[in-house]
Amino acid sequence: MPIHATDQGWILETSATGYALGLNQAGLLVHRYWGLRLPDLADYPAAASPAPWGFNSAAQLTPEEYPGYEDIKFIAPCLKVTFADGVRDVVLRFDSAELRETDAPELCIHLRDTVYPFRLTLHYRVHEAYDLVERWVTAANDGDMPVTIERIWSAQWHLPPGDSYRLTHLTGRHMDEMHLRREPLVQGVKVLESRRMTTSHHHNPWFAIDRAPSTSSGRAAEDAGDVWFGVLAWSGNWKLSAEVTDFGSTRVSIGINDWDFAWRLGGGETFSTPSSYAGYSAEGFGGASRRLHDFIRDSLLPHGHAIHKVLYNSWEATEFDVDERSQIALAELAAKMGGELFVMDDGWFHGRDDDTAGLGDWWPDERKFPNGLAPLIERVNALGMDFGLWIEPEMVNPNSELYRAHPDWVIHFPTRTRTEARNQLVLNFARPDVQDYIIDQIDRLLAEHNIVFVKWDMNRNVSEPGWPGAPGDPRELWVRYVQGLYRVWGALRERHPHVVWQSCSGGGGRADLGILRLADQIWVSDNTEPTARLAIQEGFSQIFPANTMEAWVTDMGADYLPLAFRFHVSMCGSLGVGGHLVRWSDAMRAEAAQWIALYKEIRHVVQLGDCYRLRSPQAHPFSAVQYVSKDRAEGVLFAFRTHLPPPTQLPALYLRGLDPNASYEIEELPGVRSGQAWMQAGLSVELNDFESAVRRIRRV
Ligand code: DGJ
Repeated sequence: MPIHATDQGWILETSATGYALGLNQAGLLVHRYWGLRLPDLADYPAAASPAPWGFNSAAQLTPEEYPGYEDIKFIAPCLKVTFADGVRDVVLRFDSAELRETDAPELCIHLRDTVYPFRLTLHYRVHEAYDLVERWVTAANDGDMPVTIERIWSAQWHLPPGDSYRLTHLTGRHMDEMHLRREPLVQGVKVLESRRMTTSHHHNPWFAIDRAPSTSSGRAAEDAGDVWFGVLAWSGNWKLSAEVTDFGSTRVSIGINDWDFAWRLGGGETFSTPSSYAGYSAEGFGGASRRLHDFIRDSLLPHGHAIHKVLYNSWEATEFDVDERSQIALAELAAKMGGELFVMDDGWFHGRDDDTAGLGDWWPDERKFPNGLAPLIERVNALGMDFGLWIEPEMVNPNSELYRAHPDWVIHFPTRTRTEARNQLVLNFARPDVQDYIIDQIDRLLAEHNIVFVKWDMNRNVSEPGWPGAPGDPRELWVRYVQGLYRVWGALRERHPHVVWQSCSGGGGRADLGILRLADQIWVSDNTEPTARLAIQEGFSQIFPANTMEAWVTDMGADYLPLAFRFHVSMCGSLGVGGHLVRWSDAMRAEAAQWIALYKEIRHVVQLGDCYRLRSPQAHPFSAVQYVSKDRAEGVLFAFRTHLPPPTQLPALYLRGLDPNASYEIEELPGVRSGQAWMQAGLSVELNDFESAVRRIRRV
C-alpha cells in the first residue's frame, strides 16, 4: 500500500514522488511535502505550526490542505458555506482517517464542523504508476436544515515553500485553441476559469508549474527539471486560482467555478466534487505530459488501447448539403484510399438544410434520405468501412418539432429574451425529463442502425442561465447540467459499449479529463489549416495522448502546402481525412492512399507510444515531434518547416526515449548507431520552406 500512516500524519507515495500531510499542533490539517520521493518516511517534514505575525493569524500562515472560510484568514479558501441560521463560516476539524482499497489505494480524511452537523471528507487516491494523486471532496449535511454551499473546490495543491514559480497554461479561442502561455506567479491571485458551461476554447483546467531561474534548480525544460502539474476532470464551469501569499507560499486551487454557483444541501444529503489529478515530474514538461497520457489511456478512456481507424468526415466537403447519393460518392473514394470509417456530419436529420432549423429532431431527413439511413450505411459497410454519425443532442433550434412541443425545455428566464447563437438554444440537461427524452432518441438511433462512431458536438455557450421550477437553488444549473450530460452520455455508452464517441464543441471547446471517461477522442479545433494545427496540436499534447487527437487532412492550406505536409501533420494524431475527395485529382488520391498506408504501419506507435516534443512549433518555424513504442523497439520522427528567411541552417534534432544501449537505424539516414548516439549526437533533417518529413526509427 503506497499510503503510510505515521505519527506525523500520512504519506502518499507513487513510483517517483511523495506527498505528505498531517495535523499540526493547532489541530489543522497541513500540507507537508510534494515532490521527489524521499528515501525514508522520517525524511518527510513535520506539519508546520506557524506563530501569528502582525495582522496575520496562525491560520493565515498555515499551508492547510483544504482551508475553509473561517478565522482571521484571507487566503483563497476552498470551502464557503452559509448555514440555515445565517452563519457564514465553517470551522472544520479533524475527525478520523480511513484507508480504502478501491480502484486505487485511497486515504479518506474526515473533517467535522465544530458546531454544525456538517462533515467533509477529503479523498486522496494514489495512482502509483503515473505519479499522480487524485483529490476530491464530499460534503455531508447530517442535520435537518439545509446548508448552502457557495464554493467547494476539489483541491488546493501546495508547491514547496517559495514564491518564485512560473505558471504554464493554455489559452485560445474558437478556431485557435491551446496556445502555451508561461508567466511568473507573483504575489496575489491569478485566476483562470470558464463561465460558459463548457470547458471552453479559451482556457483549459490544466496547470504546469516550474521554478523560476533564480532558484537553485533553475527552470524546467521539455526534458528536465521540476514540474508540478494538474488538471480538473470536469466539463463545465471551472476555476483555477494560483495564489502566492506575502509569506512565500504558493498554491493552486482548482474546482467547480463558484461564479453564479450555489448548492442547497438538504438534511441527509451529500455533494461530491469532480476529481483533480496532479503530479510531479523531474523530467520537465515532457515527463508531465507522458504521465498524463499514460494515465488517460490506461485508466480513463473507454477504449484506451484500441487503435483508431482512419476516418473520413464529410463536413468540410459538403457542409449541410448531404444526401444518400453524394455521401456514397464520397464513401467510395474514401474506401479506395484506405479509409476505414465513414462519418456523416451535420445536415442529415429532419429539416436540416442549414443552421437555422432541425436541431432536436434526431431522425433522418425524409427528403435527403427517403429510405432512411440504412441504404447509406449498408453501402458504406459493403465498401469495408464502419459508419459514424454527428449529433448535437444538447441543442434545439426554435424551428424544430422538439421546440414547438417543449419550448419550456430550454435554459431561460421567463421574462428575458432567449438569446440565440448559431440560431440555437440550449436544452436544460439538468432536467431529468429532458435527459430521458434525449437518451431515448439517441438510443433508438443507435439501436436501429449499425453506427459505431458518434461525434457529439456542442456549438454554443449558455446565456440567461434560468431554470424555472428548479427543485433546489436555480444556480445549481451549472453543475446539474454537467451531471445530466454525464448521465445521458453514460447511459448511452452503457447501452452501446462498442461505440467510439468523440467530444466536439465547435472544435476543442470540451477537452478535459471528465469527458474522456465517456469519449475516446476529441475534435481539437475547427481550424484544420496545417501550420496552425501544428501549434494547436502541441498545446493539446501537453495534456492529451495522440490517440485522443483526431486530425483531418482537409482542403485548408491546399494552395500553398504539399499534400505530404498536410498528411504528416494529421499523422501525428488519429488520422482522418475531410477534404472534398470528388474534387481531388487521381494523383492526389493515389498519394493520399500511400500516406494512409504508411500511417497504418506506424499508428500503433503514434497512438499508443510515448510522445517527445523535440522542437516547439509554437516557438520555432522548424519543429519536430517523436513517438516511441513502449518497448522502445520502434519510433517515428516528424519534422516540419514553415517559413524561415534565408540563409538558413536548420538545427540538429536530438532524439529522445530510445534505449541508449540498443542499436537503431533511421529511415533515409546512413548507418546504424546506438540509441545514445541518436540522442546525444543528434541528426539533421534538411527541409525547404513548407516541407516536412516522416522517418521511421527501428531497433536492429
Ligand atoms: C462544429 C464542428 O466542430 C464541426 O466539425 C462540424 O461538425 C460543425 N460543427 C457542424 O455543424
